[in-house]
Amino acid sequence: MMKWVVGRFRPPPGITWEKRGMDMRITDLSFMQGYIRMATDGANMGWHERNGGNLTYRLTAEEAEAAAPYMTFDKPWEDIGVAVPNLGGAFFLATGSGKFLRNVCLAPQDNLCIAQLNEAGTQYRVVWGLEQGGRPTSEFPSHLMNHSVKFDVTGGKHRVIYHAHTPAVIALTNVLELDDIVWTRALWSAMTECAVVFPGGVGVLPWMVCGGAEIAKATSELMKQYDVAIWAFHGTFASGESFDTTFGLMHCVEKAADIYLRILSAGGAKQTMTTENFVAIAALFGLTLPEKFLQD
Ligand code: 13P
Ligand code: ZN
Repeated sequence: MMKWVVGRFRPPPGITWEKRGMDMRITDLSFMQGYIRMATDGANMGWHERNGGNLTYRLTAEEAEAAAPYMTFDKPWEDIGVAVPNLGGAFFLATGSGKFLRNVCLAPQDNLCIAQLNEAGTQYRVVWGLEQGGRPTSEFPSHLMNHSVKFDVTGGKHRVIYHAHTPAVIALTNVLELDDIVWTRALWSAMTECAVVFPGGVGVLPWMVCGGAEIAKATSELMKQYDVAIWAFHGTFASGESFDTTFGLMHCVEKAADIYLRILSAGGAKQTMTTENFVAIAALFGLTLPEKFLQD
């Protein structure tokens, strides 16, 4: 099992690093630890072959302040390729392009970066990390457009965008019609709690060239109504408030896709969950499920 803890152990509650007379490192900050743990967990799930997948986190003002002593502001501004004015000035912790998520825990400073956006939200500059060179993930435009949409629709609650090469989801995109309703019903019906974990359903995109502005715009359109976007023959994007909930969402979608594949492999369902079942779940958990997913 890979060890994910980086740096020294945390001091007990109430004892600051200064009181212990020790230098703290940026990787000791809790948002860094949360990111590193999630990257390692995703790699251990088999979702990040080679450099597949990427993760971005929008820092809080307090986190950016705590990380500021480790930042430098001498790198050039680079064009993002899309505009996210509502995120102007924000700081993002991001995977480096071509970096392997399994290596993040070994050398966060080489595989990750913190990027600051300019006030217009059209450019970024690396202010920490990628010490051996590089640039943020090629999916940075998609991540930032998703962050931008989610910032508005959740009132700033969502901070995490996660892209993974989830094998069951990818396999299922070869078999199931690429349609939001078909996919949402299939995944909800695979496992009872799915409708509770993603009551909004999932959106599905046809195959598109990855890494550019077009797929970024199409994905962010889906993110206006969903927390999950499926990319045909490629993988999954998930959005959430915390590392835990976003990882859990990805896990739940991938597990449901895997169960659905097993059902198909076993000759198809002889019986399955019904619209009435979903309505009953919604009542129990106080959820409003979109009407379009409740048609038989
Ligand atoms: P990056 O290495 O640029 O993050 O690309 C990986 C990927 O999954 C592209 O979709
Ligand atoms: Zn990818």
